[in-house]
Amino acid sequence: MNAGRYAYFRGEMVPIERAQVSIMTHALNYGTGCFEGIRGYWNEERRQLYVFRMPEHYERMRKSARILMMDLPMSVEELCALTVDLLRRNGHTEDTYIRPLLYISEPIIGVRLHGLAYDFALFSAPFGAYVETEGAIRVRTSSWRRVDDNSAPARAKITGSYVNAALSKSEAVLDGYDEAVVLTDDGHVSEGSAENIFIVTSGRLVTPPVSDNILAGITRATLIQLARERFGIETEERKVDRTELYSADEAFLCGTGAQLLPIGEVDRRKVGTGGVGEITEALKSAYERIVHGEDPEYAHWLTPVYTGAERAPSSRDEVGTPA
Ligand SMILES: Cc1ncc(COP(=O)(O)O)c(C=O)c1O
Repeated sequence: MNAGRYAYFRGEMVPIERAQVSIMTHALNYGTGCFEGIRGYWNEERRQLYVFRMPEHYERMRKSARILMMDLPMSVEELCALTVDLLRRNGHTEDTYIRPLLYISEPIIGVRLHGLAYDFALFSAPFGAYVETEGAIRVRTSSWRRVDDNSAPARAKITGSYVNAALSKSEAVLDGYDEAVVLTDDGHVSEGSAENIFIVTSGRLVTPPVSDNILAGITRATLIQLARERFGIETEERKVDRTELYSADEAFLCGTGAQLLPIGEVDRRKVGTGGVGEITEALKSAYERIVHGEDPEYAHWLTPVYTGAERAPSSRDEVGTPA
């Protein structure tokens, strides 16, 4: 991944190559950090970059931080302003991924959370599709179980917990699938490796509840609201059996990275027709219009990066201003 030229590191904007940590950093050794994944969507016609639901991401990050006995260094409004500043300096003119990170920065041996210094960092990078595919994807249920709230809380986006996602994802991909669906310890459907999951059955949406060790996704909340307001479809949040996936009319994964990924096959069984279902397609295109700033009704979910005197750079411009 080619990151933007600047990052926010140790309280200032620096060239990305200066944003480096020691091998003794606590978070690098023990996974003691939390993060967010935010997307900016490029609208070529308007030459505008729209950041999707940025305050909600920083609010969730504050909750993750609290679970890890840390706090964000600024208010949500200040963090949003800092992010816009970074994006302008980096001058992105394509879909972009934004990664805030709060991590225990002390170079110290010893596993604990309390009494240690921590730091906030931020970088951005161009980022297209998370799963390269046209149409519907093939998934397998993972042999790994989702981390439990009583071991490593999934509702917090904790860096170390992503080993769980990596184990599931690699198993699925090396077995020839596009993604993994991970079950809870008691065998109910939890989520994808880094996405929430929905099924469609008899014209209704069903998704696992937040108490089934999912990350309470912002895309998940967006789609629940959109389904109700745009299409009059209610979502039932309840436990989902693995075999409900096999018998669903439609299914899809969703998240900031993955966006909306229709599922055509689970464990070698077709879901519905095996293609992209009708409700899935409708939600996907409504979502894509919204994030690209083409739906005025939901414009309040977007933060435009290039406003006033700050215009998006053309290809001939020198990108970035020295920090
Ligand atoms: C484990 C996990 N579940 C679900 C999601 C989807 O969350 P969101 O829609 O807020 O990106 C993510 C993505 O970050 C994730 O990592």
